[in-house]
Amino acid sequence: MTRAASSRSARSSASSSSSSSSSSSSSSSHGAADSGGYLAVSPCASLRGVVPIAGAKNAVLALLAGALACGDEVVLRDVPIGLADVRAMIDVLRSVGARVDVGGEDANTANTPSSGVVVVHARAEDLRASPSADAVAKLRASFFAAGPILARAGRVSMPLPGGCAIGARPVDLHLDGFRALGAVVEVTSRGVVEARAIARDGKLRGAGTHVMRFPSVGATHAIVMAASLAVGDTTIVNAAAEPEIEDLAAMLNASGAKIRGAGTSVITIEGVGVAGSGEKGDGGGGGTGRGGLGGCAHDAIPDRIEAGTMLVVAACVGSTLTLSPVIPEHMTATTALLIDAGCSIDVGDEVGGESKSKSKSNSNSNSTSRRRSMTITPPPRGGLRAVDFTTAPYPGVPTDMQPQLCVLNACAEGVAIVRETVFESRWSHVPELRRMGVECDFVDADGDDAVANANANANANAGRSLRIVGVGARGLRRADVRGSDLRASAALIVAGLAVMAPMGDGDGDGDGEAQGPTRVAGLAHLDRGYEGLDAKLRGVGADVERRPVPPRK
Ligand code: EPU
Repeated sequence: MTRAASSRSARSSASSSSSSSSSSSSSSSHGAADSGGYLAVSPCASLRGVVPIAGAKNAVLALLAGALACGDEVVLRDVPIGLADVRAMIDVLRSVGARVDVGGEDANTANTPSSGVVVVHARAEDLRASPSADAVAKLRASFFAAGPILARAGRVSMPLPGGCAIGARPVDLHLDGFRALGAVVEVTSRGVVEARAIARDGKLRGAGTHVMRFPSVGATHAIVMAASLAVGDTTIVNAAAEPEIEDLAAMLNASGAKIRGAGTSVITIEGVGVAGSGEKGDGGGGGTGRGGLGGCAHDAIPDRIEAGTMLVVAACVGSTLTLSPVIPEHMTATTALLIDAGCSIDVGDEVGGESKSKSKSNSNSNSTSRRRSMTITPPPRGGLRAVDFTTAPYPGVPTDMQPQLCVLNACAEGVAIVRETVFESRWSHVPELRRMGVECDFVDADGDDAVANANANANANAGRSLRIVGVGARGLRRADVRGSDLRASAALIVAGLAVMAPMGDGDGDGDGEAQGPTRVAGLAHLDRGYEGLDAKLRGVGADVERRPVPPRK
């Protein structure tokens, strides 16, 4: 059974009991959809140059939550501080009493690439157990903060994040983990998770062996953070293996945690207790020597999804581009598909070189030595081959690349079948691609049962596959389109760049609508996770312009 299917069948009370939370979460995923204006994307004949890749949004959100587990200062570098999600997570940290200093905060917006430094100091005496509901409602990843708060404060009170445009997204696996670590957990009728350590001393206990029903990224983050501060040992079996988890573990280890196996499906955590507990915590790494974690300086890994998106841009436009820095092994599933589609990928020399994750007392390097440049050389326009793929947990094809890889197939020659196994409703780009001239239908598992009215309700297509007939040399057609989630917005911008410049008005109705830029609305979603994407595209020669007023449809 796929994760999307399994999570539907095993939907827990954690999601179903929360009517209030889903409204708050949907405001985070839909409410600001029009406020970001639109991007006018002109057909692009060629691109050239080097695209700078930011620190990974999804790593940084976990690292910020991880800083709440630490008693001393945590210095995070390569933070894309212009991202709406990063700013929202910083608000969550501040709302529980952490001091957060953001380098160059005022100078950066989502429209300006940055490489920011964020310093977090979450002193035990300042820590509060109830984050601001307003701050939490802005992003689902705020729930990552529940684990460290529970472990340090002995209790946490946190609104459920609810579902969003790409799926229901329950947190039952996070809550199972907290229970296994010795917490009682209730979800109130108002959709608030109330968790507290059972033990009289208010501390979590190692869970022994904890088997996760699915390898959830967020639940793995949560359990790793909470178990690091528990008294006793925890082994997570069927853990998520995403690079962002390895990055979080590297940061926590540099602060004194004892985590082994992060980046694989079995993670072992020797809990160091909380500060002042007199339990474990021997002063190794950045630990305090009194139990608890200390502090460290850590550079976030490069964003494999931003990099993958840029690879698809190059492939669809038919231009050579170089990206830097990337960690090539984090991108293997994406680059393998691009190679199958006819592109060549060359990995360059190492970039950077010093240790990237340092505690105060010893240095502890993470993935720095693997940071490299990467150059993609695609076939000329119209020469891409369609590629079937199925999304899966790491090291499989990332669900966060599915919409962009659909655009790759839309531009290719041939027919592709795409299966989404992680998020059941991640198909909002499909009707928009149809407006751009792409023939796509939902089909059953056997690949030939087309579903009528497939997009009237995205949930109707949960568990189905998408059959895409590529336009090949004909090229995509311009349209006014709207992104309804982060990756769909990015995918539609890629599609806009790949529109074939018309010789005249190509649609034959004489209204001239085939001319001019593709207008992509829904930029508030884009700005949650791509920092300065339009500026980066302009930097390699694209004609893209952010305009304030959404187009009328
Ligand atoms: N799930 C459950 N119960 C849980 C947790 C998850 O059933 O308690 C299900 C979800 O409903 C989903 C599947 O498991 O069907 C995967 O969810 P997971 O927990 O792995 O995802 P997440 O932690 O909520 C992170 C990223 C997502 C990315 C997914 C999968 C962050 C902040 N978000 O979400 O990123 O798609 O992992 O790789 O790290 C994005 O960047 O666009 C994005 C959505």
